[in-house]
Amino acid sequence: MNLVFVANWKMNHLPKDAEVFASKFATVFKSPAGADVGIAAPYTTMAALRTAMVGLPSVMIGAQNVHWLDSGAHTGEISAVMLKDLGASFALAGHSERRQFYGETDANVARRAKTAIKHGLKAIVCIGESKEQFEAGKTNDVVLSQLRGSLAGLNPEEVLKVIIGYEPVWAIGTGLAATKEDAAKVHAVIRQELRSLFGSNGQEIPVIYGGSTSPENIGSLLSCSDIHGALVGGASLDPFKFNSLIENGISGRKG
Ligand code: PGA
Repeated sequence: MNLVFVANWKMNHLPKDAEVFASKFATVFKSPAGADVGIAAPYTTMAALRTAMVGLPSVMIGAQNVHWLDSGAHTGEISAVMLKDLGASFALAGHSERRQFYGETDANVARRAKTAIKHGLKAIVCIGESKEQFEAGKTNDVVLSQLRGSLAGLNPEEVLKVIIGYEPVWAIGTGLAATKEDAAKVHAVIRQELRSLFGSNGQEIPVIYGGSTSPENIGSLLSCSDIHGALVGGASLDPFKFNSLIENGISGRKG
């Protein structure tokens, strides 16, 4: 299974910033074998990013959310049809900031993922426990319940288009990444559940880690065979930092 590195730019970077990012990234990024790389940009930046990345076709462009309907009276939303038209190859669904601040539920995440897949996008389905849940020892229960709910209604074929992003909420943007031991335990639990839900196809789904990843800590995290890559926020905004993170992640995996 390829490693997967996905930048999540959140509400950052105008089209002109994406152009600067792309021109700098092109000077260092070597499309390493065995790794898939994507950037989830703001909607308003996706087209400029796609154009700016034309020399790096292996870098997938994606969105940070996607609606479950193709069109209609849904002010402020965006559909998979629109994202495909912009050249997207994937969309995030259920990022913890969407769950926390915008009322995203497991049921809606599952609908978003299913529609994204129907239209040929990969769905990066995000799950993760809060600080309180972590401290109360409820991580596995929370994560498994989110996993089941957020994949509800997907069949074993559809799920092959899913990437799971395990992102402990307490680790996001705090500088406090999970230890590789803690992360590895949760990833193993997720893998076991994916196998029990989807049989052998459950073995094929990448489970990537997110939460304060950096060029410094990624090698250690990816030395765990159950962690298949990273969903990267802050460290993905700078092209050189993101590229170092990818390179160090790949070397960490090789050991
Ligand atoms: P962070 O964000 O790397 O800035 O912690 C990760 C994410 O929210 O996807």
